[in-house]
Amino acid sequence: MTQLANKHILLGVTGSIAAYKAADLVRRLREAGAEVRVVMTDGACEFVTPMTFQAVSGQPVHRHLLDAGAEAAMGHIELARWADAILVAPASANFLARLVQGRADDLLSTVCLASAVPLAVAPAMNAAMWANPATAENARNLQKRGVLLIGPDRGEQACGEVGAGRMSEPAAILAQLSELFATGSLTGKTVLITAGPTREAIDPVRYLSNHSSGKMGYALAEAAAEAGARVILVSGPVSLPTPAHLERIDVVSAEQMYTAVMERTEQADIFIATAAVADYRPTRAPTEKIKKDQAHLNLALEKTPDILASVKQRHPRLFCVGFAAETADLAHYARAKLQEKRLEMVVANPVGPAAVETRGTFGSDTNALQVFWPGGEIELALAGKAQLARQLIPLIVSRYETGSRAAASGANVVELKKN
Ligand code: PMT
Repeated sequence: MTQLANKHILLGVTGSIAAYKAADLVRRLREAGAEVRVVMTDGACEFVTPMTFQAVSGQPVHRHLLDAGAEAAMGHIELARWADAILVAPASANFLARLVQGRADDLLSTVCLASAVPLAVAPAMNAAMWANPATAENARNLQKRGVLLIGPDRGEQACGEVGAGRMSEPAAILAQLSELFATGSLTGKTVLITAGPTREAIDPVRYLSNHSSGKMGYALAEAAAEAGARVILVSGPVSLPTPAHLERIDVVSAEQMYTAVMERTEQADIFIATAAVADYRPTRAPTEKIKKDQAHLNLALEKTPDILASVKQRHPRLFCVGFAAETADLAHYARAKLQEKRLEMVVANPVGPAAVETRGTFGSDTNALQVFWPGGEIELALAGKAQLARQLIPLIVSRYETGSRAAASGANVVELKKN
């Protein structure tokens, strides 16, 4: 169940007697390390009060689509972006039908429609309703669209009938939900990732740095671990918890990050440089605090070691992914970096004032990416950093495997198709 650690799970509760079991589901999800937000339909509120879910989730419950107050706090689009997965449990027959139709007339259906993350439903209804051809066709349609159907189970029902229609037990729902995050595509591989900023000392109390929060790099580390990789995360100073099941090495300066990375490149199959490494550092950092008795102070700066370029130079065959953070001409600079450093992939993101949608990208929860590799490119639209990381890892795996196959056959990689 470790795959659920630190995941954002949006739990939709619809009108069914099984709604009371959803409170236990929230408790178990949180025990597994997930953060849970609950959206209730009007029908659900007839069975269980929102207060119950507020108490077990530790968060306000979301109920209304057109509630100005709630929308200002976290509106339907923010909820859709916040989630790593949506689970509707219990899912009534009515809700399944509305999901098939793509309705957007209440908060839960709208969030489902506005989100591209994995969706799981745990149906709960009377056996005859489940057996009805209309419901059966709705369930098939949802499965065809990639919705994960969990249950329902057979057994005695609240209405006294016996048959299929009981909501699956919370433990079984949890087990199937966590499978959504376990891909296994990097099993047996080691991924070395840098994340966060570096700090370059001016004196013992001051430093040069940037606004990187580490969120993008940590999201990639989690996504790589979910895909089965052994992950070594070399992190600059950030205030993020260490994701489960990975090795984190904390560093402060570019020099320390360089050393920590270089000591571990031999173990790596893939290197992903997400860190915003300071490009310059003061040539000297006095051991005493610099006094502010002068009207002007000139700092002499020198270049820091380029970690990514050094890794590639020492290990030309290591699969290296660089990031490009640019305020203008994103594609131009990203392609240049790809060529100059002979990288396998460059992931470009707009930063600063140019990044309007992502509020500068540094420190934000969302991002929008353009990914370049020799002979191809693709855009990953605005989404949460965790979601983007889960789209990026399969891309990296696919390019890595193409390269490995070509190396094994001794052939040059010839790109036939531009994505
Ligand atoms: O941490 P967040 O708040 O989530 O923000 C994410 C991010 C904007 C920091 C991230 O998505 C990003 O773009 N990281 C790279 C930022 C950067 O330094 O870009 P660059 O264009 O200056 O560097 C190009 C590449 O060289 C990067 O892969 C960088 O890690 C690497 N580099 C740069 C300088 C240096 N001395 N050593 C390096 O390895």
